[in-house]
Amino acid sequence: MNKNTQSKTNFFLTVLDERLRNGKEYFLNIDISFKSGTKTFPAKVKKEGEDFVFIHNANKEKFEWKLIVDAMANYDSMVLVYKERGTNAVIEASDRNVTLKYEDSAETEEETTSTVKNNRNYLIKPPKANTLLKEIGIMGENGKIKNDMVRKYNQIDHFVELISDHLKRIDGKVEVLDCACGKSYLSFALNYYLRDVLKKDCHVTGVDYSEVVIKASKKSAENMGYSNMTFVKADLTDYKVTTPPDVVISLHACDIATDMAIAAGINNGAKAIFAVPCCHKELLGQYSYDEFAPLLKHGIFKARMADLLTDSLRCLLLEASGYTVTAQEYISPVETPKNLLIKAFKDGKRQKEAKEEYLRLKELLGVTPKLETLIKL
Ligand SMILES: C[S@@+](CC[C@H](N)C(=O)[O-])C[C@H]1O[C@@H](n2cnc3c(N)ncnc32)[C@H](O)[C@@H]1O
Repeated sequence: MNKNTQSKTNFFLTVLDERLRNGKEYFLNIDISFKSGTKTFPAKVKKEGEDFVFIHNANKEKFEWKLIVDAMANYDSMVLVYKERGTNAVIEASDRNVTLKYEDSAETEEETTSTVKNNRNYLIKPPKANTLLKEIGIMGENGKIKNDMVRKYNQIDHFVELISDHLKRIDGKVEVLDCACGKSYLSFALNYYLRDVLKKDCHVTGVDYSEVVIKASKKSAENMGYSNMTFVKADLTDYKVTTPPDVVISLHACDIATDMAIAAGINNGAKAIFAVPCCHKELLGQYSYDEFAPLLKHGIFKARMADLLTDSLRCLLLEASGYTVTAQEYISPVETPKNLLIKAFKDGKRQKEAKEEYLRLKELLGVTPKLETLIKL
């Protein structure tokens, strides 16, 4: 493969590098097939202790992405499968084209235990969780995950998986607040995991302004005997927490409801905030940056940049409020394009610098994001 192909591939490898750095615990391995003529030459990246090693042509060396790019020069094409729990990323490279796509690891992953048809190693696992999964409508009476609920099941289980290590570290009773809980799939999944899997004392509050979903959630909690769950019909705009939460979660809380969720965490001193934002509307009509005008003349770029600015300014505001933040892809974009998970932990490390950075950028872009108005900066 030529230099141009190597350079295009290198760009995709930087995406995978980011993924690896933010989600080492979900990494399984990288399988590579190099091809030259009709012959195939396998290579692999795997974890050995704390290190990653690259095995290729009977050599084993300390892994660097550059080793893959260098090896490409000796072959006609490459298929690289980056495997982690839940999702695989696949790079196909040849001098004709270089592509990156994501696929559910389900059908291809052998390392995980088979639980439902797509072989993911679920935390909210049938048959143990059957009663819960049936109660919240994810599983049918026949004991199978309903076809139209597989995505929701993947989303909530993966959300719980991505935050499970942090939940384990919280001592004593865990107070959880789920903002814009909707039908409370995530509240129930998290409650089940904390209480029935980790055997932790916990209390979960779900808040939503839809009467219908709150009524249904209350009924399900009652049917399950979950007296440690409270559901409140309220608009997050004026919702006041009764017990300060340790953990605030929100999954696809519409537009600025995500800001309200984050603010509820910051203002009540939550130890951790986990938010998967939904649609973004508020900055699109606000921001402008003359230098970028030629780049942003296409509406779709302007909208995507607004999404990016909204979420990255949220992260800066979290840092300015005393949280350490990571942002990662939460689930395959095939499941949902709203697949960014913001994870924030209170430790106050970058507060001052982040505040300065935020104020400078806000001035430059001419914006006042909703979150800023909800917290004390
Ligand atoms: C897309 S649903 C997500 C529900 C749930 N978190 C899930 O992932 O299944 C968004 C929810 O946000 C709720 N919501 C939006 N704005 C809200 C607000 N200001 N206060 C309370 N709930 C709100 C809606 O009623 C809806 O149930």
